[in-house]
Amino acid sequence: MNKIIDLRSDTVSLPTDEMREAIYRAELGDDVYGEDPTVNALEAKAAQIFGMESAVLVASGTMGNLVASLAQCQRGDEVIVGNKSHLLLYEVANLAVTGGIQIRPIENKDDGTFDLNELELVIRGDDIHVPRTKMVVIENTHNRCSGAVIGLDHIKEISKLARSRDMKVHIDGARIFNAALALGVTPDKLVENADTITFCLSKGLSCPIGSIVCGSKETILEVRRNRKMLGGGMRQAGIFAAAGVVALDTMVDRMSEDHNNAKTLAQGIAEIDGLQVEPNMIKTNIVIVEVLAKPITKFISDLKEKGLLVSHADTNRVRLVTHYGIEESDISKTLEIVDSAISN
Ligand SMILES: Cc1ncc(COP(=O)(O)O)c(C=O)c1O
Repeated sequence: MNKIIDLRSDTVSLPTDEMREAIYRAELGDDVYGEDPTVNALEAKAAQIFGMESAVLVASGTMGNLVASLAQCQRGDEVIVGNKSHLLLYEVANLAVTGGIQIRPIENKDDGTFDLNELELVIRGDDIHVPRTKMVVIENTHNRCSGAVIGLDHIKEISKLARSRDMKVHIDGARIFNAALALGVTPDKLVENADTITFCLSKGLSCPIGSIVCGSKETILEVRRNRKMLGGGMRQAGIFAAAGVVALDTMVDRMSEDHNNAKTLAQGIAEIDGLQVEPNMIKTNIVIVEVLAKPITKFISDLKEKGLLVSHADTNRVRLVTHYGIEESDISKTLEIVDSAISN
């Protein structure tokens, strides 16, 4: 049977044999009592990698962004996010639903960055009529901006502005290791001016479950409390934390293969009539392609019939994400399928 090439997301990546072995052998305890040695080891490792005081394992990136926000904002506060951010578009309005927190979107440019003047303008003053602007969220890499990488200088400028207005900075770093690899810096550099970061184990790092929030001891204690409040206190969570430990040791550097594959994919697609992509924009593992020559749903279903799965990004754009399990040979096959689906 021909292999189905699944490029819908890096979340479809499967755990490695080494992870499965570690899962089998994991030492376990009750993590709600703080007694799971494998969870404790993973959290300590994550905090150390990001140069933060403390870390906590959560079920997902969505939960991580939520509990980090709840820990740093009160009801009636406002959080500034990008208008193409995952937090705004795909997290079920959870800040509003559970925290009474208002979201204020500002434009994400094509490279995922903000206009700093716009950011400064939307930060509220001290006025009883308006909410308090408490936090700004930076998404890095930026999913809807083709995996764009937000550079150190931009993060620093946002943080400087936020600090001067007594605001917190949260990084939605679902794919922060991709950003660090693309920039050639260690991950701690990308968060040294932030208060909290969420990163995902279950995307490019290929774990079955889990994300981690890092921050100061005090903030993470509050994050832990919010995790419990939402029903996210997990017992022998070392079962999947074990995969996380392996991932942080073995899966980070290999993601450069995903970046190379994404680049080759974008270069190939740019040659195909009826599709539009700018290969120079592709810095990590996400390729977003504009479909000009066919209705988008027909294009996606034709690809599926030929054994290629992609996701519908928005309007007339599809998203292809490279990940562990996708080889160079899959990229050439993908290009053949895409070519035949768009021209038939
Ligand atoms: C940028 C970004 N943030 C957060 C999330 C949420 O992660 P999860 O699916 O684990 O809730 C995603 C998921 O794709 C994402 O791309």
